[in-house]
Amino acid sequence: MNARGRFISMEGPEGSGKTTQCARLARRLLAAGREVVALREPGGTPLGEAIRSLLQHDAAGERMAPEAETLLFLASRAHLSGQVVRPALERGAWVVCDRFFDSTIAYQGFGRGCDVEEVIRVNEFAVGGLRPDLTVLLDIDVAAGFDRLAGRNASAGTGNDRFEREDRGFHERVRAGYLELARRWPERIWTIDGSRNADALERDIWSRVAHEFGI
Ligand code: TYD
Repeated sequence: MNARGRFISMEGPEGSGKTTQCARLARRLLAAGREVVALREPGGTPLGEAIRSLLQHDAAGERMAPEAETLLFLASRAHLSGQVVRPALERGAWVVCDRFFDSTIAYQGFGRGCDVEEVIRVNEFAVGGLRPDLTVLLDIDVAAGFDRLAGRNASAGTGNDRFEREDRGFHERVRAGYLELARRWPERIWTIDGSRNADALERDIWSRVAHEFGI
């Protein structure tokens, strides 16, 4: 399905270190001479960034129905997939994406309680069969993830967004949902312990990617 390039997504609960590991993986791939397109979800296009602000911070997004939330994430993803991800893969680039469709299944399906099988189906509709070649799931205990997040928000001077303000139960369901997806799709989703330090994680992720894709 993915033409010539490779598509790697990074997933995990809040504070799992995905963003750091996406940047480090992208740097390693560049150093290995690959063209890299690094993206984040929601976002990655002007439309996606507008949807991101609606979903995370805009007052218009407060108390939105879970189905509306799901469809906004999917609108952003459909656009990103068609405009950016597919063309990049077709020209042979490597796409590294900070979150992709597993986030919607974990957060809107398991977390918000939308029907998981239906969320999977509408996701398929949005991306037209596009799927990552490898998904790295950085698993972390909810409390440990929130400790990291508090440190990051304090040093950046930012407050919690709409998802970070959800209660502990929501985030426990998200984490458990991710682990269930990893059991469902073991050939694609690779779970690693996100509580380890960033250098060790970077080394492990790189050795898996280099081995699996023959770099
Ligand atoms: P972001 O600032 O990117 O957080 P993180 O660093 O944790 O990735 O915010 C994205 C938020 O949106 C995050 O709380 C997870 C949530 N989200 C969903 O609920 N569903 C989705 O499909 C996606 C892509 C993200």
